[in-house]
Amino acid sequence: MKIINTPAEWLEIEKSINRKEKHQSIGLVPTMGALHKGHLSLVERAIKENDISVVSIFLNPVQFNNQNDLKTYPKTWEEDCALLEKTGVDYLFAPTYDIMYPDDYHYKLSEDSFSKTLCGASRPGHFDGVLTVVMKLFQIFLPEKAYFGEKDFQQYKLLDGMAKAFFLRTEVIPCPIVREENGLAFSSRNKRLSPAGLAKAPCLHKALASGKSVDEIKAQLEADGFMIDYVTEVGNRLYAAASIEDVRLIDNVER
Ligand code: PAF
Repeated sequence: MKIINTPAEWLEIEKSINRKEKHQSIGLVPTMGALHKGHLSLVERAIKENDISVVSIFLNPVQFNNQNDLKTYPKTWEEDCALLEKTGVDYLFAPTYDIMYPDDYHYKLSEDSFSKTLCGASRPGHFDGVLTVVMKLFQIFLPEKAYFGEKDFQQYKLLDGMAKAFFLRTEVIPCPIVREENGLAFSSRNKRLSPAGLAKAPCLHKALASGKSVDEIKAQLEADGFMIDYVTEVGNRLYAAASIEDVRLIDNVER
């Protein structure tokens, strides 16, 4: 695995391996680090389905509306590198803020409908930050395929919509949620929970999968000690965000 830090380095590599002449496909997995089994399932798929695989690790500050959330977001660089080495991924892209935002985020992408609901309603500007950074990554690597976990289903839908709206040549691929045996979806934020919090956290999925009404699910989550942000049905999918020990967890299920 080769670590690269700038788009210029990637351009040099692309030339030296004759990627364009050889028509080699690229699979990209954008991440913010603190890697877990969910991320690794995306990486494995990117490796399997493409000639060249790239993972990015960039804790994107502009998608955090809450500075405390950014400060306490788990940072596990050494472990991340060790895990990625084992997967056999070809490149790890790890830029700094100045490299990703030479414009200091004066240019941004936004969507003005679905992004204002669910997570976007309580995290103003969050999806502008996500769409902008992913567009930058797509421009740098021009991947044929990019992989995103369905735990962030709203994010996946918005990125897929962006790729289509801007005629991007990247296919946005949703990948199934990876769960612990107890149902808890793997998430970097789980690393911030105490053992007691970790014991409670699976109740989120359990409630969503119970088949009960939205009101009943809310009552159950409150009884379980969650601070609810939303439990909302959109189409055939039930979405929820709720905090435990001040750690915001999200999940969704098809109904
Ligand atoms: O899902 C994430 O980890 C992030 O939102 C992403 C897609 C890597 C953009 O920073």
